[in-house]
Amino acid sequence: MKKGKKLYEGKAKIIYATTDKDLVIQYFKDDATAFNNLKKSTIEGKGVLNNRISEHILSNLGQIGIKNHLVKRLNMREQVIKLVEIIPIEFIVRNVASGSIVKRLGIEDGTVLKEPLIEYCLKDDNLGDPLIAEDHIYAFEWATKNEIEKVRKMILRINDFMIGMFRGVGIKLIDFKLEFGRYKSNGKTEIILADEISPDTCRLWDSVTDKKLDKDRFRKDLGDLIPAYTEVAKRLGILHEQSNVSAVNVTKLSSIKKRKWNESVCNYHIKKRCFRPTG
Ligand SMILES: Nc1ncnc2c1ncn2[C@@H]1O[C@H](COP(=O)(O)OP(=O)(O)OP(=O)(O)O)[C@@H](O)[C@H]1O
Ligand SMILES: [Mg+2]
Repeated sequence: MKKGKKLYEGKAKIIYATTDKDLVIQYFKDDATAFNNLKKSTIEGKGVLNNRISEHILSNLGQIGIKNHLVKRLNMREQVIKLVEIIPIEFIVRNVASGSIVKRLGIEDGTVLKEPLIEYCLKDDNLGDPLIAEDHIYAFEWATKNEIEKVRKMILRINDFMIGMFRGVGIKLIDFKLEFGRYKSNGKTEIILADEISPDTCRLWDSVTDKKLDKDRFRKDLGDLIPAYTEVAKRLGILHEQSNVSAVNVTKLSSIKKRKWNESVCNYHIKKRCFRPTG
């Protein structure tokens, strides 16, 4: 399979076509953004860690029957994935209140929720990915009731699995964001998990100290993002002292640089809201 042209460049990843129309390559960049792109940096080694961590989580989810887009990791920064039509909703799953919900509703940071809470945000950077109600999804036909029912069932299984996986390595899964898409094959369409699951898209706190091991280190200027992501990878058993990843300096402290935003690619995406597989 050969790598083709760039289809889309997002804030954290680049998607390339391949010679197989059903598959694309997802490249993990070192760019970090927060607060709807207002804060930007490049953190050397982040993409390598996220590629490995996301591969680990998605392949484990695959083993418990959660269909997802991962085909295989190609190298340190790239993975082959199934091309889907992304449902334009970010599904936020909360076990403990932190982040936007704390500001929005005045809940105390760290409040443990009795049940997992699922929130929906419209995937639209121009609007700041606004929180929406489930009825908005049906009113504007972003997904069907049947699709949301399937997604919610998958989310609860994913959450149960991930809580256990992280708890086993001394990490609390506070919340995370998921994306799902429609995958068409052999004339059938199925809903599968897409995008990534990594410390960029989860809140992860050390079980004993509550130390943040996720992108909040960047959002809140806490520093030491790479050591925190490396810690997550090591605890999950992905990285060992002698791994290749250290050869590309991921254990070194990040270098922070300004990056240039690719407007043309961004505009393309905002209009379409997602890739639409041909055929
Ligand atoms: N299997 C897939 N098929 C098609 N598109 C995908 C797939 N998995 C993820 N994507 C999309 O690819 C893009 C990945 O890039 P990135 O995460 O950097 O985007 P982003 O800047 O966060 O923008 P967005 O607001 O679109 O998520 C996202 O738009 C994501 O929705
Ligand atoms: Mg994204």
